[in-house]
Amino acid sequence: MRSQPPSIAQPMAASRAGPLTGRVRVPGDKSISHRALIFAALASGVSRISGLLEAADVMNTAKAVAALGASVEKVAGEWCVTGCGVGGLQEAKAPLDFGNSGTGTRLMLGVIAGHDITARMMGDASLSVRPMDRVLTPLKQMGLYVEGDRDTLPLTVRGSSALVPIAYALPVPSAQVKSAILIAGLHTAGETTVIEKEATRDHTERMLRFFGADVRSVVQDGRTQITVTGDAELAGHNVTVPGDPSSAAFLTAAALVVPGSDVTIEGVLVNPTRTGFYVTLQEMGGDVAFLNAHELGGEPVADIRVRFSKLTGISVPAERAPSMIDEYPILAVVAAFADGVTRMHGLAELKLKESNRLAATAAGLIANGIAAEAEPEALIVHGAATVPGGGVVSSYLDHRIAMAFLTMGLAGERPVTVDDARMIATSFPEFLGLMESLGASFTDPVGQA
Ligand code: S3P
Repeated sequence: MRSQPPSIAQPMAASRAGPLTGRVRVPGDKSISHRALIFAALASGVSRISGLLEAADVMNTAKAVAALGASVEKVAGEWCVTGCGVGGLQEAKAPLDFGNSGTGTRLMLGVIAGHDITARMMGDASLSVRPMDRVLTPLKQMGLYVEGDRDTLPLTVRGSSALVPIAYALPVPSAQVKSAILIAGLHTAGETTVIEKEATRDHTERMLRFFGADVRSVVQDGRTQITVTGDAELAGHNVTVPGDPSSAAFLTAAALVVPGSDVTIEGVLVNPTRTGFYVTLQEMGGDVAFLNAHELGGEPVADIRVRFSKLTGISVPAERAPSMIDEYPILAVVAAFADGVTRMHGLAELKLKESNRLAATAAGLIANGIAAEAEPEALIVHGAATVPGGGVVSSYLDHRIAMAFLTMGLAGERPVTVDDARMIATSFPEFLGLMESLGASFTDPVGQA
């Protein structure tokens, strides 16, 4: 089954809301959900996953591990995965379709690399133009064979049970690339090392340790060196997935810009490799507090309380980009409501996401009367006392562009319309409902006309 959306676009408009108030929970973290399914499939025995994100991206990973021989079923609200052990997965009978998900594709390339199986991998139109060479280059060094030397989906790849361990310095700050190499390293006879100049999200390292792998991280001269010992044996484990800070970001932004708002989002992942957005909001003068901090399955979690605030534009340093890479579209929307100019640096990677988010974000701001400039690696937003709104935004079938501009509409002078809201289902199907539970309202501009 293809996971591309049906061909009829679904426009959506958001209009000015009264104060947003309430306590909510966002669905499980997308990055942790993918990894929980993958490591459970590579473990021996049963893993129970609660709080798994049931959005299209993660469900495609669930289908992929099931097609490779793991048993995946939902029992009494939890996802039960019976794994095959590292190296124990089998060839799928049909192509693996990852839909819109770069994370699912790249992590699963690492899985397939360590198995004597051939796999055909495909995705939707957005995923089919995203770069895979960043993972294929190191995985080929380890022994992955790629038919026709292609570097975008669709791909046919053949793994090997005799992969060679490598030491690899990441040329781009990417947790997906790091994770693919470490996952492949589980099934080598030696030690595989990844060196990163800028720390990226570390859920793979944390969760692999949780499942029993030997993973060491050493920070030296500002670089992190992560080493996994091969011939690993993972044992089934129970995982509770905390709330996704990248989804909570939209509710946080809405509460900050809609006058009178006071919202608490419970149980959100606050791993420091993911909280750059929240740190930035605090620097802009945002009333954003982490309360009730605790640990859940090896990850730090807190409730986030956000109140409407008067914000000031700032300069966001390039080195913060990996810890908030998915949050720039929504930060740009917040910056539109701030006093003064916000400059965001180090955004080269933003052009390679589900859409060219640097260009898409700047275009969306301009369509709504906000001056913005997209530079090769930076985005500059000129905040306004009032955000005119009234524009129609092209989402480029990108979930985060759609959610960011619907959030803008909640505090703009006139409604903001996005051309197509269907892709929101890839990461945050509850977005509209949760926003509405806080007091927001959305309309279908076509249905209304
Ligand atoms: C992710 C890493 C990031 C992020 C993506 C999820 C992950 O991508 O943008 O949404 O789960 O590892 P890159 O690794 O390409 O930066």
